[in-house]
Amino acid sequence: MKKSTEVITRTIEDANMQQYDEAVSNFQWETVEKGFSWYGQEKCNIVYEAIDRKCEEGHAGEIALYFCDGTRDEQYTYEKLQKLSCRFARGLQNLNVEKGDRVFIFLPRTPEYYVALLGAIRIGAIGGPLFEAFMEKAVKDRLEDSDAKVVVTTKELLSRIPLHELPELKHVILVGADEADPGKRQVTYQEIMRQDDSPFVELVSKDDGMMIHYTSGSTGKPKGVLLSHYAMVHMYLSGKYAYDLRPDDIYWCVADPGWITGTSAGMWAPWLNSTPVVMRGGRFNPEEWYATIQKYKVTVWFSAPTAFRMLMASGAEISKSYDLSSLRHILSAGEPLNPEIIKWGVDTFDIPIYDNWWMTETGSTIVANFPALPIKLGSMGKPLPGIHVDIVDHIGQPMEPNELGNLAIKPKWPGMMRMIWNNPKKYNDYFLNGWYISGDSAYKDEDGYFWFEGRIDDVINTMGERVGPFEVESKLVEHPAVAEAGVIGVPDPIRGEVVKAYITLRQGFKESDELKEDIMNFIREKLAAHARPRIIEVRDKLPKTRSGKIMRRVLKARELNMPTGDVSTIDD
Ligand code: WT7
Repeated sequence: MKKSTEVITRTIEDANMQQYDEAVSNFQWETVEKGFSWYGQEKCNIVYEAIDRKCEEGHAGEIALYFCDGTRDEQYTYEKLQKLSCRFARGLQNLNVEKGDRVFIFLPRTPEYYVALLGAIRIGAIGGPLFEAFMEKAVKDRLEDSDAKVVVTTKELLSRIPLHELPELKHVILVGADEADPGKRQVTYQEIMRQDDSPFVELVSKDDGMMIHYTSGSTGKPKGVLLSHYAMVHMYLSGKYAYDLRPDDIYWCVADPGWITGTSAGMWAPWLNSTPVVMRGGRFNPEEWYATIQKYKVTVWFSAPTAFRMLMASGAEISKSYDLSSLRHILSAGEPLNPEIIKWGVDTFDIPIYDNWWMTETGSTIVANFPALPIKLGSMGKPLPGIHVDIVDHIGQPMEPNELGNLAIKPKWPGMMRMIWNNPKKYNDYFLNGWYISGDSAYKDEDGYFWFEGRIDDVINTMGERVGPFEVESKLVEHPAVAEAGVIGVPDPIRGEVVKAYITLRQGFKESDELKEDIMNFIREKLAAHARPRIIEVRDKLPKTRSGKIMRRVLKARELNMPTGDVSTIDD
């Protein structure tokens, strides 16, 4: 087992939470709650706390959001975001959208994404962030499972919303369109925005639903993870301690709001800490990324190991031609942050990169290398104060230091999911002997730092994005040539893992590069680009249990030249 030997002690001296042990031992969530305007009351709203309150407390004219995408270059004050989202909120009310209704956002990374999300949550509706790269099947599964009433999208993305299969979807709001077809339940964004912009907000109970982020498991359809308004307490604290955000920072989180990092860490944590946010449209490009840091004088930058590896591969010459000296520190999450990346970070930016471990289901950061503490290279860091994290065995008993087991969290913490939409069984499956079981294996060292080992289940992590093998397998067998499919993740030097599909072919089909290419494109066009298998291997048969379930574990073990483990249930 790997051992913690290397440490970076260059911590940020004036960072929040210098005294970790003290912060942990004195910690009470109530102390954090006292900072919120609703303290001592039953009702609240995260939008009020993140936006309206800033306006009321004299910061209306301060910039909350900087946006550029090559064609647009814009700035939004807290007041402007308040007014725009109030207009949108009234527009939704005009469509009879009510508290608890699901309003999905299926847009490119633009300010309208935030306006719509803030507008929906402002009236107590549940916001459903979707990633723009989702294709028809992925979009349909999510809108159908959540019984979405409204989707906000563009004309370009419209073809991926199968209206005839979604009877509950009453309205499609079109951003950037001049006209809309009411016969197709459409209305333009301009029409929706033709409203009074005076401030108003619906206060809801702390446990009421705020957002649903869909994520993948190893079996079944994507899971709708519901977060409540109370998650704001957690997101605020992550912003303060783990991301060390201040009002005078300029913060850029590169994640798309379609993923939890893009909302929880990308908008809520900074705005709750009064920190202005940079949003950049468009795709990954080393020059443009460095140029963005230079242009806005970004001080805190949140990205992911895959992106760092791609920047690393693009060479030091490029980074040297930009002024990146504004950066105070860098944050990472989503996949293991290798020590080599941290060393590259020190070489390139002269500052460390701080790892954060969490999941869609946890709502916000759980374990982090805090900017105030020494980094143990390769570890994920220590728990956020107020959150009890441990390593437990298969019956939910805590284990000794340095023993490998399940990374587990004691419920409830404020950001914890409140349900899996429509699926109480899936929700209950997370819990064992009073612990939330993450699905990751890890260990804790003598100093209380946590070290990641891998996933316990079959979930694939490619470029920091979770891909459920079952979703890909189900789509693969819809291809006319594919009889059966087993999908696993295989290690990749840049992407962490890539999706690999083992398939058997239907009668009459022959293996060829063209056919494989066609199958790969089929997944990209029907499901999502990041779910596309990059490797397809054709087999005569696949290892299966006697009940016919494909044994991914066996495929994976063979792939990695590891022992296959217990194969007593295998068919042949
Ligand atoms: C899974 C959760 C970070 C929130 C966005 C991703 C993996 C996450 C780390 C890390 C190693 C990590 C885990 C986890 N993961 N952070 N710092 N080191 N692995 O949320 O899509 O729900 O994925 O990502 O396997 O279970 P998600």
